Amino acid sequence: MLTIHSSPLQGFTDFRFRNAFQRFFGGVDQYIAPYIRVNGKLEIKSASERDILPANNSSLALIPQIITNDANEFLFVAKYVQKLGYSELNWNLGCPYPMVAKRGMGSGLLSMPGKIDEILARLSAETDIRVSVKMRLGYENPQEIFHVLPVLERYRLANITIHPRIGKQLYKGEVDLKTFEECLGRSSHEIIYNGDITSVGSFREMKERFPTINNWMIGRGLISDPFLPAMIKADNPVYPEKRYEVFNSFHDALYSSYEEALSGPKHLLMRMYSFWEYFIQSFPNSPKGLKKIKKARNLGVYREAVKQIIDNEAFNNALQFPS
Ligand SMILES: Cc1cc2nc3c(=O)[nH]c(=O)nc-3n(C[C@H](O)[C@H](O)[C@H](O)COP(=O)(O)O)c2cc1C
Repeated sequence: MLTIHSSPLQGFTDFRFRNAFQRFFGGVDQYIAPYIRVNGKLEIKSASERDILPANNSSLALIPQIITNDANEFLFVAKYVQKLGYSELNWNLGCPYPMVAKRGMGSGLLSMPGKIDEILARLSAETDIRVSVKMRLGYENPQEIFHVLPVLERYRLANITIHPRIGKQLYKGEVDLKTFEECLGRSSHEIIYNGDITSVGSFREMKERFPTINNWMIGRGLISDPFLPAMIKADNPVYPEKRYEVFNSFHDALYSSYEEALSGPKHLLMRMYSFWEYFIQSFPNSPKGLKKIKKARNLGVYREAVKQIIDNEAFNNALQFPS
């Protein structure tokens, strides 16, 4: 059976987004929470705690994520999330940002298979939490993964998600599907594909190329087009009739949720603008829409800009596809 996992995006896919998404769109089987980082202090920040509290995620299936290169930190967070009722913890071996990677975390750990081995050995001896891994092909070069996969073979893992880029690429350039294909032959773990799925068409191409993959993870594509997971599940690239009404209600739910949480309109405007950097891709008839949202200095102007963008798209669509 095909499953769709929502990729963690720090600053975007927090519990407020996840709840609004789940309420209006669905199609996602499992959400991975943006990573928890403890920085050697062995304490969980209140924002991370709030994000994964079961009470804040009661309508969805969530897997917490950790970024670390330290077994003690891993064990501490594992115990903490187990206490909350989680039985799986995802390990981030993919974060590409130099500040993280240069400290040997995220994709920066992929060139140190010995260290990964050491950490997994401690985990398998000292915790019964299920570990899943989310990784890139490497940091400096895509061959790094071929030294990591044999290490992962020695451990019981829930699954491995591979985003076939290297850390140095950040999110630019092509995904390296050839190397991804090679990885499939070198791992007996369940592999989840992640990267650049932005439409039913691009999903179908991937599915055709990798017919043995049943589990797919989508990040940015799911924010740009929140209807995407449900359309992929239905194998039908057709939007619901009330597409723009649904999007509008989703937007309002997201907005209200952040309005409640953020202090003052400036923060709310910034947060909504960062979402619109993705949303705008679903609104090709408003090429200047994003600029208008960026320029909005108060909530009234912002709301008017959003209304115009949504109404304009609905109008143009009705002309194009009269019922
Ligand atoms: C702004 C941003 C924040 C991200 N935060 C995380 C994170 O906390 N944990 C993680 O494993 N990946 C993180 N990622 C990577 C995504 O989960 C995903 O692997 C990547 O965007 C590729 O998938 P996509 O092409 O479907 O977006 C982040 C990506 C972006 C752009």
